[in-house]
Amino acid sequence: MVQIIFWDWIEFAVRWIHVITAIAWIGSSFYFIALDLGLRHSPTLPEGVKGEEWQVHGGGFYNIRKFTIAPPDLPKKLVWFKWESYATWISGFALLAIVYYGGAELLLIDASVLDISVTSAILLSIFSLALGWFLYNIICKINIGKNDTRLMLMLFLMLVGFSWAYCHMFSGRAAFLHLGALTATIMSANVFFIIIPNQKIVVADLMAGRSPDPKYGVIAKQRSTHNNYLTLPVIFMMISNHYPLAFGAQYNWVIAGLVFLMGVSIRHYFNQKHAFNLKPIWAWLVTAFLFVSVILLSVLRPPPANIDDELSLNNNHGSALELAKYEELADTIISRCAMCHAREPLWDGLAEAPGGLFLETKYDIARNAKQIYVNAGISNYMPPNNISYMEPSERNLIVEWFENYY
Ligand code: HEC
Repeated sequence: MVQIIFWDWIEFAVRWIHVITAIAWIGSSFYFIALDLGLRHSPTLPEGVKGEEWQVHGGGFYNIRKFTIAPPDLPKKLVWFKWESYATWISGFALLAIVYYGGAELLLIDASVLDISVTSAILLSIFSLALGWFLYNIICKINIGKNDTRLMLMLFLMLVGFSWAYCHMFSGRAAFLHLGALTATIMSANVFFIIIPNQKIVVADLMAGRSPDPKYGVIAKQRSTHNNYLTLPVIFMMISNHYPLAFGAQYNWVIAGLVFLMGVSIRHYFNQKHAFNLKPIWAWLVTAFLFVSVILLSVLRPPPANIDDELSLNNNHGSALELAKYEELADTIISRCAMCHAREPLWDGLAEAPGGLFLETKYDIARNAKQIYVNAGISNYMPPNNISYMEPSERNLIVEWFENYY
């Protein structure tokens, strides 16, 4: 079982990297948006300077100026902000592959949503991410120079479309994650294909003493504004994995749509505040209204899943049935875990199975073998505080079962 432990640590390491690089990316993005909006012009500034801001941090004062026309002596060394974004995407895709492609049968596919093979599910996942960028880029291009509101509306409809499609293709949990991944792919691709190349053209022009076509700046600015509005929903989608109330609802795709709107209303408040010192309280009222709607929608549950062992064990999971034939083990797990990990938990204070994880039938047990092994076999993380008095011999049984059959 060295392999399982190895992969678990690899997954942890990649997740660690992903969270760190994402913090760096989002941090610099928020910083520059606020800085840009906070720049103030004054007549004493040299020509070509759009504005400046004074900041205090870490025991010193910073005077930052934004040049829209190249200063006479543009230094050779320019700091570019791009690796944060690329590293976030690369580590994110690696994590998606380890968790959802590696564990496709358990996490990506939900036969009650769409019964597809592991290969089709993985291909659909990769294809959809590429399609998202392709459509987004086209929508932006045909709208360039036109009404910005119309563009935002079209992009919103596109995201809702993907949200519907994902929720009818993958498990709820994977659907939300994919929506986050699709949006984050758009954001990274904006940096890679549009923002940085445009900036390079502008810098080259400035260095050569030519005046750059302002359209490059306009396009880059538009894309970076989209990135700004998309950040908050992406983070919601990425952490939604811990909240089955969000991804497991019947209208989970509507919830996802409302989350995108919340991202816009929250950012709007801060953007107005940084730019004009306004405090549009109504933006928070809208956010609160959207959030309450999300909560109300989350209690509309899908019709109960078919938990009849024989019926749910379709051909896809035939081999899993064999593994679940360990009667004693099944009895142990059901008696120690199912009071909480059930479709209708008996444990006081639990509205839903923690982590959306059910351990009520042999089928559930076969599907979640690795989770059981890691959380209750080789570690005693579960049951929490050993609340249901699991015996050491029962843990040994889990370890023996898993190591023999998987
Ligand atoms: C008293 C209720 C309770 C019992 C009994 C219980 N669990 Fe849990 N389980 C939880 C809670 C609460 C969490 C969420 C913990 C967290 O988020 O840190 C959880 C989380 C988990 C997770 C992680 C799910 C995820 O992906 O987020 C696994 C796996 C798990 N339990 C397995 C088991 C197994 C196996 C048993 C029986 C041996 C068991 N649990 C018994 C309450 C329980």
